[in-house]
Amino acid sequence: MHQNRTLIRGDNLTEMRNFPDACIDLIATDPPFNSKRNYFVPYRDEHGRKPETLVQAFTDTWAWGDAAEDAYRELMVDVGGLVGDTIEGLRKFLNETPMMAYLVMMAIRVVEMHRILKSTGSLYLHCDPTASHYLKIILDAVFDTRNFRNEIVWSYHRWTGATKHFQRMHDILLFYVKDRKLSKFNILTEPYSEKSKHKGRRKTTVHADGTIDQIYTGDISREKAMRDVWEISYLNSQAKERVSYPTQKPIPLYKRIIAASSNEGDLVLDPFCGCGTTLMAAEEQNRHWIGIDLTYLAIGAVEQQFERLFPQHRDTVTIAGTPENVDQALALARTDPKGFEEWCVTHVLKFKSNTKKVADGGIDGTFRFPLGRVKGKQVYGKAVAQVKGGNYTLGHIRDFRTAMQNEEADLGVFVVTSPPSSGMRTEAARAGSYEHPLFDMEAPALQIYEIQDYFNDVLPKLPFGERTLL
Ligand SMILES: C[S@@+](CC[C@H](N)C(=O)[O-])C[C@H]1O[C@@H](n2cnc3c(N)ncnc32)[C@H](O)[C@@H]1O
Repeated sequence: MHQNRTLIRGDNLTEMRNFPDACIDLIATDPPFNSKRNYFVPYRDEHGRKPETLVQAFTDTWAWGDAAEDAYRELMVDVGGLVGDTIEGLRKFLNETPMMAYLVMMAIRVVEMHRILKSTGSLYLHCDPTASHYLKIILDAVFDTRNFRNEIVWSYHRWTGATKHFQRMHDILLFYVKDRKLSKFNILTEPYSEKSKHKGRRKTTVHADGTIDQIYTGDISREKAMRDVWEISYLNSQAKERVSYPTQKPIPLYKRIIAASSNEGDLVLDPFCGCGTTLMAAEEQNRHWIGIDLTYLAIGAVEQQFERLFPQHRDTVTIAGTPENVDQALALARTDPKGFEEWCVTHVLKFKSNTKKVADGGIDGTFRFPLGRVKGKQVYGKAVAQVKGGNYTLGHIRDFRTAMQNEEADLGVFVVTSPPSSGMRTEAARAGSYEHPLFDMEAPALQIYEIQDYFNDVLPKLPFGERTLL
């Protein structure tokens, strides 16, 4: 069984199948929603919009195809019973649509989640009204309707344009327990509303000038048991915890779930962990945690977020499913160039990943480092990176040097999997060297970095500084 603070890069179905029965106290997770407004939209291509890398990753997953058909068969044959009947009924209604593909892929994972939860355990499945009604039917079938606890409404405000319907400003969290008789639940409270008579007794004073004062004299610190409608701010672009991971959720939302349905030392799992909101919330409350995500980008984001929020524990995180030696790194470069690039940028270099790549000359990542204050304002230097997992030529190095100039970068790292020729080295040397204005640090401005060096503990020469997140 995995230890505390483990991050697994991989498909959560395969990974959860390696977990023993009844080993997890709490699963709090936020899968892709299958909604058009979400970053992970299976319809995006069909609407003619340019697919982005991460979207591409899900387009295959949620389209009806072999994987969905296999999952459907497994649900009918291996799982069967009420779950099989439910899925069969849904297919009659939804046919082989992306929504049905999404539901079978979710159903087969929910079956695993149920298996690995302890009898005292709970599941919170984060979704939105696009699919929450279908997911609830599936959860009822897997967990039993009697183990349904709440449909929590997370209500928030955010900027939207005018539409021909009411503004959609809530998500749904479906809360189930494995066994209602054994489940853990710590009652959380919230303050009474301003107007509530339960706040205490009201004392009215009429003054000589006719004005009236009303004050509450009771114990105003008393609170009431928390409702299932939660008003928690959506992360705005300025939020401190923001790492620009698409679909990042606020830590306070997940802290509430963890406080209610687990105790210190319990093991919390997020099998769709994204940039690790659940994991940060678990760490803050002294729970143990395991996170799984399909993308190298997400795993890199969790690493960076965790190092920033819990620097004292930075060396205690175990990462599985990412290259552990040169051969694995080279195999990744061959089989999954995009994954290799994300791993190099976010994990090896700890740069901010460039997910947009619009007319930027192929810059894959950036890193800003502080250069001190000028007229009271912090000034930053800039490093950029490009990853070449396959063959590369002298022309690529020249183009990267041009991109560095266009980006006004002080330093550039060109990551490769094979040694450069002497001509390439000469071309790189043309970029000159960089001297840090504050520290005794000098380095070639354009460094060709062979990934083999990473496994010999040799990193590119870069200034210290807090890495900007994603
Ligand atoms: C909605 S996001 C989670 C966001 C997260 N709550 C946060 O605050 O960052 C869903 C995540 O599920 C991941 N994902 C999708 N399919 C997956 C699979 N089969 N196995 C593991 N992770 C998957 C995606 O890469 C994405 O990071």
